[in-house]
Amino acid sequence: MSAWKNEPFKIEVKAGESKAFCMCGLSKNGPFCDGSHVETRKMPEVVKFEEDKTLYVCGCQQSANRPYCDGTHKNIQT
Ligand code: FES
Repeated sequence: MSAWKNEPFKIEVKAGESKAFCMCGLSKNGPFCDGSHVETRKMPEVVKFEEDKTLYVCGCQQSANRPYCDGTHKNIQT
């Protein structure tokens, strides 16, 4: 698994919208699922939002709270 980038993606979502976040780390469209998980046992995290909000979605793939950033990227040496 390699990072998409060493910082979170800032994503605006709207109430009623759903997003499928990549959890296998293989997506070429990170942090969103592109179907690459079919060869793994991991499934995307599908979230339906009930309100408009700003998300900080993990780009380093090291967060303990994926798909969301937990600040772990600050400890990664580049
Ligand atoms: S981008 Fe991965 S923990 Fe922040």
